[in-house]
Amino acid sequence: MAIQYQRENHLFTLNTKHTTYQMKVDALGFLLHLYYGARVSGSMEYLLTYYDRGFSGNPADAGNDRTYSLDVLPQEYPQAGAGDYRSAALVIRNADGSEYCDLRYVSHEIKRGKYALKGLPAVYAADDEAETLEITLEDPVGGVLVRLWYGVLEEDDIITRSAEIRNTGSDPICVEKASSACLDLISGDYDFISFYGRHAMERNFQRTPAAHGCQMIGSRRGTSSHQYNPAVILAEKHATEDAGSCYGMVFVYSGNFMCEVEQDQYGQTRALMGLHSDLFHYPLEKGEALVIPETILCHSADGFAGLSGRYHRCIRKHLCRGKYSHQPRPVLINSWEAAYFDFSGETICRLAREAAELGIDMVVMDDGWFGKRNDDNSGLGDWQVNEEKLGCTLGELVRQVNAAGVKFGIWIEPEMVSKDSDVYRQHPDWAVQIPGRKPVLSRNQLVLDFSREDVRNHVFDQICKVLDQGNIEYVKWDMNRSITDIYSAEREQGKVTYDYVLGVYDFLEKLIRRYPDLLIEGCSGGGGRFDAGMLYYTPQIWCSDNTDAVDRLRIQYGTSFFYPVSVVGSHVSAVPNHQTGRSVSLHTRGVVAMAGTFGYELDPETLSGGEKDEIRKQIACYRKYEALICSGDYYRLSDPFEDECAAWAFVSEDREQVLLNVVMQEIHGNMTVSYVRLKGLEADAVYRDMETGTAYYGSALMRAGIPMPVQMGEYLAYQKYFERVKEVE
Ligand code: GLA
Repeated sequence: MAIQYQRENHLFTLNTKHTTYQMKVDALGFLLHLYYGARVSGSMEYLLTYYDRGFSGNPADAGNDRTYSLDVLPQEYPQAGAGDYRSAALVIRNADGSEYCDLRYVSHEIKRGKYALKGLPAVYAADDEAETLEITLEDPVGGVLVRLWYGVLEEDDIITRSAEIRNTGSDPICVEKASSACLDLISGDYDFISFYGRHAMERNFQRTPAAHGCQMIGSRRGTSSHQYNPAVILAEKHATEDAGSCYGMVFVYSGNFMCEVEQDQYGQTRALMGLHSDLFHYPLEKGEALVIPETILCHSADGFAGLSGRYHRCIRKHLCRGKYSHQPRPVLINSWEAAYFDFSGETICRLAREAAELGIDMVVMDDGWFGKRNDDNSGLGDWQVNEEKLGCTLGELVRQVNAAGVKFGIWIEPEMVSKDSDVYRQHPDWAVQIPGRKPVLSRNQLVLDFSREDVRNHVFDQICKVLDQGNIEYVKWDMNRSITDIYSAEREQGKVTYDYVLGVYDFLEKLIRRYPDLLIEGCSGGGGRFDAGMLYYTPQIWCSDNTDAVDRLRIQYGTSFFYPVSVVGSHVSAVPNHQTGRSVSLHTRGVVAMAGTFGYELDPETLSGGEKDEIRKQIACYRKYEALICSGDYYRLSDPFEDECAAWAFVSEDREQVLLNVVMQEIHGNMTVSYVRLKGLEADAVYRDMETGTAYYGSALMRAGIPMPVQMGEYLAYQKYFERVKEVE
């Protein structure tokens, strides 16, 4: 039993293979957090201390006990207004205008299997892989009932949390702020690690001390955003890549979110993950409920590597769905950087013929095939095939591509509308904008109100009509602006940001049901919606609009802290690179793109015969290592923000095969030698470099490392493949 309840002391213990999470209901009915970390035995209640603290008040039913204060005690789901002055997990505005909530324990239930969430993505597991704890708390005066859900995946060292807020009173209430997870850590000195960025430069690593005060990252953009990823780490001061205690919090949601880390007056650290409280006031009428998206928690006692490995497995096995979540993905060529808007059906057929010759599996027709869309100023929302531009019907084009022996994929941006489009001219009220105000334009487009079912249904029908025209096996689902001017004709305004995201999920769910074999790649100007929520619907996401192999080293490094390579869209593009003007070798571009769902983003016609040969070899190489790359364990071997080289490795689960990848970031006269240390090998086993034949002990490769060649040239890349030798020689 992963979840244990001890009736005598009202103690809940959640055990995974390596971790323990513990909480208890105290004499006053409050649900207190006791411990989360490396696995321990026994009750951790002794950690709670009670002192009379000035200016930290006492609940009425504590009587004369001035040592009992919610301002100091660690809690599972702290509410605002009732004596805890720290950042709250839940803020409720009552019908009388007061902001107050006082939740006490009512009951609990332990169930086999993992809970699911209505309308929201969530980790899933077989009934024998997970258990669920549901704890019900209530504020009878305010008429608020909260269900806290804990999902425990014992073998995977994963604990998920989610909550439902229900109005059980007769008056309306309003949810002003709600988190799904609160981690109240009684002791320890922590750093807060987050992943910030911007369009075309996402997920940079940032580590700051969790000092007194409250640090917050989040998004008010309607999507999870390029600017901050909804996944963070709380690391003990001395935790490193390979050692020390750290906690991960990954939000399974694709809209506005907020993560706060606060060190309180007594040095205790609180971390909250939930919906952003700005642009959000969710009214609940009598009987109505709001579900708060899930947070995936994980603790590692072995540094960030341990944390990442667990998240990678969890996302691959328990979040991505569908045929492709466990199958090789097609190597694709995308028309975007090859032709932008300037293509015809013949261009796509030519790409397909070239693809067939090179060994590429699929051609993707990107933006520009519909409506009046020859640049990015018009046409979005008019999902009618521009047969004049293509020179044939879509069905005919797909047939021709398939006849060349290549699969066909297509780009869509269902949530968007151009002002210059027929659909906007007919239904201006379908766009998110405030009556009487001129909306902010971004890329000259507006956002469709996906919180409205009628709007979604219209777009869904249009998209299905497109997909039904031929054998379309892949869709790239884009979303190319942040949301502003939030307003919906159909609902209370404070609901729109949340209902919009649920509308997107609803659309995606319907699409998956109707086309179960379709591979959907998520995208939002590259990685602007690169989150665990989207991964439930789209098992891969275009990682960044920046295809420069050198910038990608950092972007993919940051991405790797939570997300497995099997979900990271990564392509070889032309040089000079279109985003940076930098030129690096085809080999280096290939090595970097192989740390993802491999593909191409260039026009093969511009390549020399030699380059085409190299691409053929590159694809053969990817195919050879594909299983190792996509389902092996991924190890970061250097920090590309700091080190001379960027290095990473894939190690098969049985530790028989190892693929080492290195890109040299620095070159100087009389260059020093870089030694790369491998990880995750069997120390006593012998591994042979399959190219040179040299054999090394795993311990040597891990402890002393392997010298990288000193060679002239910028950004040279090396790929070394090792196999475990059966007999020690
Ligand atoms: C976004 C995507 C690109 C491309 C363009 C098309 O920027 O990230 O890959 O699809 O849109 O407009």
